[in-house]
Amino acid sequence: MCGIVGYIGNKQASKIIIDGLKRLEYRGYDSAGIATLNGKIQLNKGKGKVANLEKMIGDSQNGSIGIGHTRWATHGEPNDINSHPHISQNGKLALVHNGIIENYNTLKKKLNDQGYEFYSETDTEVVAKLIESFLEKDSSSLKKAVQLALHQVTGTYGIALVHSDFPDQIIVARKGSPLLLGVGDGEMLIASDASAVAAYTDKVVYLDDGEIAVITKDDYTVESSDQVELTKEIHELALSLEEIEKGGYDHFMLKEIFEQPKAISDCLRGRINAEEGTITLGGIENVMDQLVNANRIVIAACGTSWHSGLVGEYLFEYLAKVPVEVEYASEFRYKEQLIGEGDVMIVISQSGETADTLAALREAQSRGALVLGVVNVVGSTIARETDAGVYIHAGPEIGVASTKAFTAQVTVLTLMAIRLGLEKGTIKKEEAQKLIKELALIPSKIESILENTDHIEHISRLFSYAPNFLYLGRSYSFPVALEGALKLKEISYIHAEGYPAAEMKHGPIALIDEMMPVVVIAATHHTNDKMISNIEEVKARKGRIIAITTSENGEVSDLAEFSTIIPATMDVFSPLLSVIPLQLLSYYVAVNRGCNVDQPRNLAKSVTVE
Ligand code: G6P
Repeated sequence: MCGIVGYIGNKQASKIIIDGLKRLEYRGYDSAGIATLNGKIQLNKGKGKVANLEKMIGDSQNGSIGIGHTRWATHGEPNDINSHPHISQNGKLALVHNGIIENYNTLKKKLNDQGYEFYSETDTEVVAKLIESFLEKDSSSLKKAVQLALHQVTGTYGIALVHSDFPDQIIVARKGSPLLLGVGDGEMLIASDASAVAAYTDKVVYLDDGEIAVITKDDYTVESSDQVELTKEIHELALSLEEIEKGGYDHFMLKEIFEQPKAISDCLRGRINAEEGTITLGGIENVMDQLVNANRIVIAACGTSWHSGLVGEYLFEYLAKVPVEVEYASEFRYKEQLIGEGDVMIVISQSGETADTLAALREAQSRGALVLGVVNVVGSTIARETDAGVYIHAGPEIGVASTKAFTAQVTVLTLMAIRLGLEKGTIKKEEAQKLIKELALIPSKIESILENTDHIEHISRLFSYAPNFLYLGRSYSFPVALEGALKLKEISYIHAEGYPAAEMKHGPIALIDEMMPVVVIAATHHTNDKMISNIEEVKARKGRIIAITTSENGEVSDLAEFSTIIPATMDVFSPLLSVIPLQLLSYYVAVNRGCNVDQPRNLAKSVTVE
């Protein structure tokens, strides 16, 4: 959600903070702000993008220590006043926050009674003033005042603050919202996401929940919630600048769509052996027995990751004959908790920071289930807290609408399902050899789809101003229909629904008329005949069919008004191909409509509040 960056060293802090904020803007982008220390706090903030902030400050923001923030509003509308940093009443302290302070109203009343006044509607301002109230009683230690204040806070936070009476330190603390320290030479950075520090250092220290750190330009100390000083591991960042830049593409989303052949190759590398028919998944080898003996698998995720979980359900049930339930992480938490020992939960998360997914993981773990992660961001909270896991190795995904993470997640789930099938004997070695051989061809098949985007661009122009879209699929193509509809909604703001094709008759068919584009994903052999019947039903009501199909399904192409032909593959791998034209369709529609593709309104890349 919100992005946090801070710098302390000998350079001009504002330049580094603005650069970091730009890299974090994909996380939240309704407002931005910066506070630097140069004798006193210099604060600039306002509604809008980081570029506005950059313009606002020009060369006027001095100091070699400071903090910055990009906001995704939770409490209080996006406006100048509610933007972060928030300052204390005496103007000496500036604080940025990611998360939600749940008891902020109670704290605000108490502080009001003590004479504190509030200018914003945010929960964050309360924390700034609460720390100030403790400093007024004992001004000897900023860290102590922060610790005392945080003891009174319920909710989640990643905070960073500077204070003009303590001009050589930044304090950061974390509970539920990610924060890391970037360790430089004579300088230190702090950030909510490694991409903000990657240009300056490749050494990072991840904070864990409950920890507080005092950072000076040459050093840092980290304490646990019970005030024990900790020795934290320094991790090496494997993140190149090239990976987090657009590299000639108009948008990150387009770049990431085109990166999919590479992302999947990276994901398969070293893990498959087609000749032998074997799959090695280093991250879960130690827990393979537990996975093999699992009573059932529960998959928990949000958004696009939930859609890849749905594909996973089909894969695990078909290949490994194990019952699977797919839960929205947010719903799982509030259901009767029947998960326990003998069950395996797989959490899927691109960012590894989604609050609801993290909470589901903790809930399942506390009840004795084995929890495995399918995560992209190395070192993220979910990756660290799961018992074991398989990284998807898709590389940084910056576009808010997830693309390459989806296909890489599906690839990992496919690998896990085939491996589990082999272990359980539900698939034979010869079958595995065939499957793995075909899986290895998927990157080049995606490439061939990406070589031919003109046709999809043409379709997009015809339908860019349709008010509604319907996406239909069966079997493996049903989650793809959901994902296609989500992509369109997210970035073009067109209402779109994904539906199991047969289920259309129980509702959405009422919406179909000559104005309604119906995207039909007819890419699996075993449901082809039934899909053809569904297409006829749509046509009979004058719906306009855009089919995603293979050359083997000639009948579908004959029936459809438009069809995009993707290479044929085995049904189990079809989502990896059929989703590509849908990603492109939503991209081009959004571009035609003049939408901000990488930063769609109201959305955030990493949802760290519940
Ligand atoms: C947000 C993003 C989606 C993503 C979802 C889950 O809504 O905009 O692209 O699918 O969060 O995020 P995760 O990082 O857990 O996969």
